[in-house]
Order: sequence, then C-alpha cells, then structure tokens
Amino acid sequence: MRMVDIIEQKRNGGILTDQEIAYFIGGYLDDQIPDYQVSALLMAIYYKGMSQEEIANLTKHMVASGDTIDLSSIKGHKVDKHSTGGVGDKTTFIVGPLVGAAGVPVAKMSGRGLGHTGGTIDKLESISGFRVELTNQEFVDTVNKHKLAVVGQTGNLAPADKKLYALRDVTATVDSIPLIASSIMSKKIASGADSIVLDVKTGSGAFMKSLEDSKRLAEAMVTIGNQLNKQTVAVISDMNQPLGFEIGNANEVKEAVQVLQGEKIDDLRELAIELAAHMTVLAGIYEDYETAVQALEEKLDNGEALACFRDFIEAQGGEASFIDNFDLLPQSAYKIAVKATATGYIHEMAAEKIGLAAMHLGAGRATKDDQINHAVGITLKKKIGDQVEKGDTLAILHSEKDQADQVIDIVRSAYTIQPDKTKPRQMIYEVVK
Ligand code: URA
Repeated sequence: MRMVDIIEQKRNGGILTDQEIAYFIGGYLDDQIPDYQVSALLMAIYYKGMSQEEIANLTKHMVASGDTIDLSSIKGHKVDKHSTGGVGDKTTFIVGPLVGAAGVPVAKMSGRGLGHTGGTIDKLESISGFRVELTNQEFVDTVNKHKLAVVGQTGNLAPADKKLYALRDVTATVDSIPLIASSIMSKKIASGADSIVLDVKTGSGAFMKSLEDSKRLAEAMVTIGNQLNKQTVAVISDMNQPLGFEIGNANEVKEAVQVLQGEKIDDLRELAIELAAHMTVLAGIYEDYETAVQALEEKLDNGEALACFRDFIEAQGGEASFIDNFDLLPQSAYKIAVKATATGYIHEMAAEKIGLAAMHLGAGRATKDDQINHAVGITLKKKIGDQVEKGDTLAILHSEKDQADQVIDIVRSAYTIQPDKTKPRQMIYEVVK
C-alpha cells in the first residue's frame, strides 16, 4: 500500500477501505508516514468528506491506537455525557448527580480548558481539597458507592487523534464534520462507558454555527456510536448566549449547586434534565423519556440530586461546606458593574466574547501553561429577550483588579440592544437518535 495512492483516491472523491484507513493511522502514529502526506489527506477529506462507514472505521482505528478504559468492575450500565463545548456550560455538575441519584453510574474523565473558561477539572479545583486524581481503585470504589466520580484524563486515550488534531490545527482542517465526529467519538469510546449522550451546541458561541451543520455533526456521531456498539443519543442545544448566568470557575460551580438546590434557572435546568432523561432511559432506569423527565424533576426538587453531589465532593476529598455557604468558594477582590448604554431589548449576545472577557479576567487559559484564577468570572444580569434601560447593569465582573476597562468594553460589545421586543431563545432544538 502507498500513501500517495490513498491521497489520490480521496482527492478524487473515492471511498477508503478499512485497510487503507488502518494503514494511514498506524503509519502516521509510528512516524512512517510524514506530516505532509497526512496533511494532504486531511485536506482531501475536508473537501470530499467521508462515508459513514469510513468515519466509523477511522474512529475504530483511532480508539485502537491507544488504551481503552476498563470500567467492568463498576456495577450497572455506565453512561457518559459529552458536550461539544460552550460558554457557561456547567451541566456536568448537575447531570452527574442527577442521574447518579436515579441509579446510573457515571465514571467521568474530563479535561482542562483552553481559551474561554476552564474545563470541568479546573472548575472542580475551585472546591477546597477536591482531588481530581484518584487511583483506579479509588475511582471505581467512588462510582460504585456514590454513583459518580470525575477525574482528570489518565491513560493514553486515542493517541492517533491527539497527533492528527495537532496537525489539523495547523493545516486549516479542524472544522470538517467527519474529522470532528471521529475525533470526539474516539475519545468517548476509549473512555469505556456503555452508552453516550452528546450535547451538540449550536449557534454563535458554538463550534457549529448553523443548525444544519450541528445536525450533520450530531448524526455522524450517533451513527459512529451505534456502529461501534455504544448506544448514542445527541441533543442539539442552543449556544447563541452563555448557558445560565455565571461564567468562571467558582461561579459556575455555585450556579450548578443552585440548580441542585431546586432554583429554577430555566435554561440550565431544562438542558440538565433533558440530558439526564436520555441518560437514564439509555441505562434502562426509566421506560421512556416522559417518565424520566418527571422523575428527574422530582429528584432535583426533593434534594436527592444535591445529596449525591455532596457525597461525591466529600468522597473526592472536597470540603462540601461551600454548598451551604458560597462565601467559602474563592472570591475575587472587586466586583465591577457593566452598564447598558442604550434602552431597549437584548436581541443577541455574542457568547464567544463573554467567554473571551472571562479569559481576560483570568478564568481561562490563553496558552496551555497559563494559571487559572478560580475566583474571577462574570455574572450576567441580562440575557436575550430581557428589557433594559440605559444605565442598567448588564453584567458584573468578578475581577482581581479595580480597573477592567478593556473587559467592560468586550462584555458591553457582546450585547446587541434594539428598540423592538424579542423573545427569549429556545434551549433544545432537536434530539438525534
Ligand atoms: N473536539 C475534539 O475533541 N475534536 C475535534 O475535532 C473538535 C472538537
């Protein structure tokens, strides 16, 4: 087999066989095939696409390139959740304990963030004493006992994806649906859960800006999962504005706890229940979606989900007292209001700009080696559909500096205020099974 023939075949719109995909993945990982040839193939895939069978085969070989986590010593049907990423997304902290309270074991490996705000692991480190590294035995024991554990990524999962992703990043081939779908699913499948629920974000603050592309990505990932024997459901959810009202690490943990305490933070609660409902149905806990939603609403309102969250925090060494007193979370030195300069209704909010503003305050990393400040972030006071008067507070910055003019400008510019009324955004667009 020759790499040049594989490139030519894809360039001409042909279909690659399982053996050809195995050849190029294996050869690239072993440094037998150079970057320039793989770059050419990636660009050919970018333009010519891949069939569902090719995408599933690519995913399979990326999974096989590294370790697969063995969760067999965890009792029950394990379900994982993955979000394609958005600003203010703290649903893991609600969904995990919510499905845990319903009896679904969640053994979650999460990453740190780059850009925007931190990742799930960074957010958990806002909690004093919380350990994101557990031994394998501790991880298994925690899930068996409390139904939930969240740790930083360990093992060498899908190393071929890691190497390809780095190459895609510098060859303008990241935003190709077959490549994104196989990349995400290779890591999820290697993480060992029995079923997967995907939260595919759509809108201005998401990877996929249009509903049509988001649907294509969702369908590609669901098909991969099903072809590789992992039942997969994808929920397409709105990312035209940040999720909830809090952005930043400690801020987001606090808001998740508020939802677990029964507060009706509408968009966040709705999305968490939606994702949790699909997870519990896949795990066979509830017969159908409607029954699941009703049962999960109850578990949020009667404190069962909160109790699961508390147990999980304590089991991983965290001081859970912050749940009853948010002042125990890291606090920034200054709170700075961002005021509206016009009267009207909020029509749009550029979620990416809000994420960028949070990063400038120190909540996210501009480069891999930056240190995160867990205390800083942004509290939104207005979202799409809200009425504002000139001078009203749009958002509050949690800052370590008393001056934050540049960040104020970014946040203000994220809001589009117009005179005519507009409706709040819908949260869930579609479910792909
Ligand atoms: N996230 C991933 O893990 N891979 C992609 O290709 C895009 C987003």
